[in-house]
Amino acid sequence: MRAVSQDRYGTADAVTVEDIPQPVPADDEILVRVRAASLNGSDRENLVGRPYYARLAGLRRPRNPVPGSDVAGVVAAAGDSVTEFAPGDEVFGELAGYRGGLAEYVATPPRLLARKPPGLSFTEAAAIPQAGCIALQATRGLRPGEQVLVNGAGGAGGAFVIGLAKHLGAVVTAVDRADKADHLVRVGADATVACEDEDWSGHRGRYDRVVDLVAHRSPFRVHPALRPGGTYFVVGGHTRVLLATLFAGPPIRWTTGKRAGVLVVPQSRADLEAVTALVTDGAVVPPAADRVYPLEEAPAAFVRLVAGDNRGKIVIAMP
Ligand SMILES: NC(=O)c1ccc[n+]([C@@H]2O[C@H](COP(=O)([O-])OP(=O)(O)OC[C@H]3O[C@@H](n4cnc5c(N)ncnc54)[C@H](OP(=O)(O)O)[C@@H]3O)[C@@H](O)[C@H]2O)c1
Repeated sequence: MRAVSQDRYGTADAVTVEDIPQPVPADDEILVRVRAASLNGSDRENLVGRPYYARLAGLRRPRNPVPGSDVAGVVAAAGDSVTEFAPGDEVFGELAGYRGGLAEYVATPPRLLARKPPGLSFTEAAAIPQAGCIALQATRGLRPGEQVLVNGAGGAGGAFVIGLAKHLGAVVTAVDRADKADHLVRVGADATVACEDEDWSGHRGRYDRVVDLVAHRSPFRVHPALRPGGTYFVVGGHTRVLLATLFAGPPIRWTTGKRAGVLVVPQSRADLEAVTALVTDGAVVPPAADRVYPLEEAPAAFVRLVAGDNRGKIVIAMP
C-alpha cells in the first residue's frame, strides 16, 4: 500500500511517500481503508521531535514511521473478537498512539473510533477528532458573555475552540500572526491580536478564560490577564512552560483565587461523538479545510504545516 513514511525527526524532507506492507489487524483490531486524514499541530511536533514530549513516540526516530492521527474511512476487515464494527462501516476518529493514519490502510483497536455521520464527508469527518476534542474540553463550562482569549488560534485546532466558545455565548479574542487575522474573524473571533505586535499578557484583568495552544510564557506572567476567578488552560507549547504551569497552579490559586493548569485532553470516543453532534446539529460550523492534498503530495502538505502557513486544517485525501 502507499503510505507516508518518516525516517527521522527533522524538517518536511524527513517524510516521503512509499510502498509499505499493508497492516494485518490483530484479533481485537479493525483494518480501516483510510479515505481522508487531517494534520494537527501535534503532527508537526511529531515530525520535528520538539517539544521533547513528542519523542515519547521514539527517542531517535518514531517507532511507527507512518505519521497521522486523525482519520476517516471504511472498515475493510475486523478481527475475530471485534463486535462493534463490521466491514463496510464508515468510521472516523483519532488513532491510539497518534500515528499510522497517513496510509491507505491502518490497523487499530476500535475503541477510539466512532461511526461517521452520513451527512459528513470523509474530508469533513477527518478534520474533527483532535481539534474537536480539545475544543470541547477547553470550552467546557463557559457561560454567555464570558471573555475568552485563544492563543495560537490560527492553526489546526483554534477555529474549533473559537466556534464552540461562540456557540456557548462567549466573547472571543483570538491571537496569532497578523496575516491570519482575516481567517480568525471568518471563523468567528470578535477581536484579534497580532502576536508580533502586541503582548496579550499585558491585558490586565480582562479574560475569564485563556486557552493557550502555544504556551511560552510563565503562568505567573499570564495570570494577571485573568479576571478574578478566571482560568488559564495550557493545551500545548514549550515543555518547560507545561511543567512550570503544573507546579504554579496551586500557589496561583492560593494567592489569587485564579486557576492555572495543563488541560489534559484524553483521546475519547464519547467526546468525539459529543462534539460531532454539535457539528451535525448545526450548532458549530466546522471551518472549511485549509487545503486538501492527494496522498502523493503529502510532503508538500508537511512543508505548509511546518511553515505554519495553514489557516485551519490541512487534509490528505487517499486515492
Ligand atoms: N493537552 C492535550 O492533551 C493535547 C492533546 C492533543 C494535542 N495537544 C497539543 O495542542 C496543540 C494544538 O494546537 P494546534 O493543533 O492548533 O497547533 P497548530 O496547528 O500548530 O497551531 C498553532 C498556531 O499558533 C501560532 N503561533 C505560534 N507561535 C505563536 C505565538 N507566539 N503567539 C500566538 N500564536 C502563535 C501558529 O502560527 P505559526 O505556525 O505561523 O507559528 C499556529 O497558527 C499542540 O501543541 C498539541 O501538541 C495537546
